[in-house]
Amino acid sequence: MEDIRNIVILTGAGISAESGLATFRGPDGLWEGHQVEDVCTPEALERNAALVHRFYDERRAKLNEVQPNAAHHALAELDARWPGDLLIVTQNVDDLHERAGARRLIHMHGELRSALCVACGESLPWPDPLPPGSQCPACSRKSLRPDIVFFGEMPYQMDLIDAALRRADLFLSIGTSGAVYPAAGFVQTARHAGARTLELNLEPSAGSFYFEESRIGPASELVPDLVRRLLP
Ligand code: APR
Repeated sequence: MEDIRNIVILTGAGISAESGLATFRGPDGLWEGHQVEDVCTPEALERNAALVHRFYDERRAKLNEVQPNAAHHALAELDARWPGDLLIVTQNVDDLHERAGARRLIHMHGELRSALCVACGESLPWPDPLPPGSQCPACSRKSLRPDIVFFGEMPYQMDLIDAALRRADLFLSIGTSGAVYPAAGFVQTARHAGARTLELNLEPSAGSFYFEESRIGPASELVPDLVRRLLP
């Protein structure tokens, strides 16, 4: 792939599937066992905080049982060795990208291992269970919630993401169904900016039509292969 300087990479639950973390919309996906409205909306938090906190406590605890896979490690190596601009934008709330060593990383949907104070707005590292009414160490109010972007809320750092997409020469989408905006629209922004667009997924996503190329297969095989071709 000639004359590529700036790369933006979008990842979804599919990149963590081979590490043993459930996706949302596949067979026995997370949304099979739970209704989005019951665990991933501001109304759900109002209505039943205990259920919402428990749902994320269970997913946070699972992180202690899983490891990054070859796809996470390949992206971390690309991040470390790529001389141009590079940004990994993950929809995932797991910590597998950073545990593989990725640095130029944005969690647009928040992080399981972080807590958000609704009183002072602080996001704080939080590796432990987070009962409703936990006290914020920054402002002492009992106002911590899971630092997860719920449906209907604004994803994090959209201005930075948008700026990176507008300068991209290559946009990669890995392991996402393309079911949720604004992430599902990133490919169009990148295309308008003249970027090459490539999708790596186990099956064609809802947005496959917008990609120049879709490679079908498991991320743990496709991503290391692509990184080997990109790095000198
Ligand atoms: N390798 C590559 N792709 C895979 C693999 C794998 N081993 N396993 C599954 N996939 C693909 C599936 O084919 C599917 O297209 O990953 C995609 C996962 O799609 P979703 O479960 O919808 O997850 P995601 O796209 O990340 O969801 C986006 O929706 O519910 C919200 O906030 C949540 O961030 C999430 C967002």
